[in-house]
Amino acid sequence: MTDLTSSIKHLGSALAQQTLLDGQLTRPVAGHRPIRILPWLQVVKIGGRAIMDRGRDAILPVVEELRRMLPEHRLLILTGAGVRARHLYSVGLDLGLPSGSLAPLAAREAGQNGHILAAMLAPEGVSYVEHHTVANQLAIHLSAARAVVSSAFPPYHHHEFPHSRIPMHRADTGAFLIADALGAAGLTIVEDVDGVYTADPNGPDGAKAELIREARFSDFAKHEGTLPFDRALLDVMGTARHIERVQIVNGLVPGRITSALRGEHVGTIVHTGTGANAA
Ligand SMILES: Nc1ncnc2c1ncn2[C@@H]1O[C@H](COP(=O)(O)OP(=O)(O)O)[C@@H](O)[C@H]1O
Ligand SMILES: [Mg+2]
Repeated sequence: MTDLTSSIKHLGSALAQQTLLDGQLTRPVAGHRPIRILPWLQVVKIGGRAIMDRGRDAILPVVEELRRMLPEHRLLILTGAGVRARHLYSVGLDLGLPSGSLAPLAAREAGQNGHILAAMLAPEGVSYVEHHTVANQLAIHLSAARAVVSSAFPPYHHHEFPHSRIPMHRADTGAFLIADALGAAGLTIVEDVDGVYTADPNGPDGAKAELIREARFSDFAKHEGTLPFDRALLDVMGTARHIERVQIVNGLVPGRITSALRGEHVGTIVHTGTGANAA
């Protein structure tokens, strides 16, 4: 009787009897590389300021390029935020709003940019989908259409880390997190410059800035100047499980996104920490 009661109460699990904080103890079950959920997926992050804010001159050629790629790839197109989010940040900061209140404001603008792109690609069957659809129903949407569009922002909202007053996890970080979690084939970040330079090519030292063709994420972590992507992207690259490299390309030059998705080196390739995170 006693045995039956205790066996009913006993949950057979390799992790039941121990702390989850001890890596040595959890490794036998937690030490494998996770499966790739959508291994054929290509994730493309389109910059809000770099592309969307420029209007038709920049958007129409990018839309045309994405449209032409549809027979070749299945895409998750993620849009970032631009000047409207920066305006919202300044109004919100002036009012003293916490980072967690600012994060969804910027995410809304990223979503608006996504709605614009999705409308332009609608004749191809492309729609804008919300985060919960990306999380739960991406596979079925990509069985019905060659691409979907969503906001690149991660949905932290009031769970955003309050390390800095400007939300630290923005579009580049969000795009990387979802691409790595899905085990996607690749992530391409679309900017308005040829890649990452030694200094801002549009800044005061722009004339001296040199293009960095290839680097490890840890090299950029040591870089003291500005970068064309969120600094938090480097943190999540350090813990990547699947995405081995990210390419940053100039979306204002026709053909660059297409070449990047074909695996050609046309921008800055940043190698992540996947090798070290195999287990
Ligand atoms: N080290 C750097 N290399 C390349 N671009 C940089 C660098 N530092 C700053 N930038 C600037 O970042 C701009 C892109 O701005 P960004 O805020 O990343 O746009 P988006 O929000 O669209 O991604 C580029 O046009 C460039 O002027
Ligand atoms: Mg950028």
